[in-house]
Amino acid sequence: MKKRLLSVILAAGMTIGLLAGCGGAAQPASTSDGGAKGGSKVGVSMPTKDLQRWNQDGANMEKELKAAGFDVDLQFASNDVQTQVSQIENMISSGANVLVIAAIEGSSLGEALDMAKEANIPVIAYDRLIMNSDAVSYYATFDNYKVGTVQGTYVKDTLDLDNAAGPFNIEFTAGDPGDNNAGFFFNGAYDVLKDYVDSGKLNVVSGQKTFEEVATPTWATEVAQNRAENILSSYYADGTELDVWLCSNDSTALGVENALAANYSGKYPIITGQDCDIENTKNMIAGKQSMSVFKDTRTLASQVVKMVGQILNNQTVDVNDTKTYDNGVKVVPSFLCEPVFADANNYKTILIDSGYYTEDQLK
Ligand code: BGC
Repeated sequence: MKKRLLSVILAAGMTIGLLAGCGGAAQPASTSDGGAKGGSKVGVSMPTKDLQRWNQDGANMEKELKAAGFDVDLQFASNDVQTQVSQIENMISSGANVLVIAAIEGSSLGEALDMAKEANIPVIAYDRLIMNSDAVSYYATFDNYKVGTVQGTYVKDTLDLDNAAGPFNIEFTAGDPGDNNAGFFFNGAYDVLKDYVDSGKLNVVSGQKTFEEVATPTWATEVAQNRAENILSSYYADGTELDVWLCSNDSTALGVENALAANYSGKYPIITGQDCDIENTKNMIAGKQSMSVFKDTRTLASQVVKMVGQILNNQTVDVNDTKTYDNGVKVVPSFLCEPVFADANNYKTILIDSGYYTEDQLK
């Protein structure tokens, strides 16, 4: 009770500090461009090196923070919650002035966040919202619900659901239940398709259509692949044709694509994804994945570096959404970047011409 009271007082202090432009912790000399000199240190905690996107996010954050004059402590947590907690605690003990955290599990960082709060260190939730904590000051991400609507709309338009007779067979694969984003992606897509599922124009042959039934713990390719193999052998081995497999992201789409290659010989279905990972972009070029949603990690990194500078330089912090992201304790002021539709027709412009990948990386 006493500890809780202390936390509340400290949290209130931090909020007032932030409103007043005081980022807590040591203040660096400010610069007019929002960067900082004087050795301000930013702790950047990423979930894992196993998935391509977090390596890119980490590398972009490190590069941009250094270019803006900050010291950086970048850590990857091997998708292990306790490792992430320890890494964040070490960042705090070694003098981080701001923490940028992409949580493995949105609700499991309690101890580390309490410590950040007590040390008055602002926390920016990176890409994934940190849940059930008032220690999180800001959230920067892509518009997660929109990612799902882009996927759902692609399916609707490609099958011409308003005019075609159907019915079409569909399966769903969603993300990690511990990641708050996963529900937004799934709901965004499902909301576009729900009426067609309800009317029977889209037929979920396995019958698995709730988020809980189609979720993929840790977003792992192998987990998505195992579930897809089971569904294919149980429901499609008799020659039933599959028209769509709606996948929330690329790591899970890859699992479905692997499962289809070995367990299905009918007409190749529409497959959705997200991230434009290299393997998936190659698959789009080869016709094994229909689309992806490009989230330029350079844009997100630049935005977060800007927010870090604004916090430490006592400036108003850029946000464009103050309603959507309720973490159970507070609505976290957020900046949402725009996701972009990608397929085999536009990948050259958005991925190669923009310098995100080289042509060789996609061979
Ligand atoms: C990210 C996605 C990513 C997924 C798996 C989500 O939180 O927003 O871009 O595909 O995690 O790493």
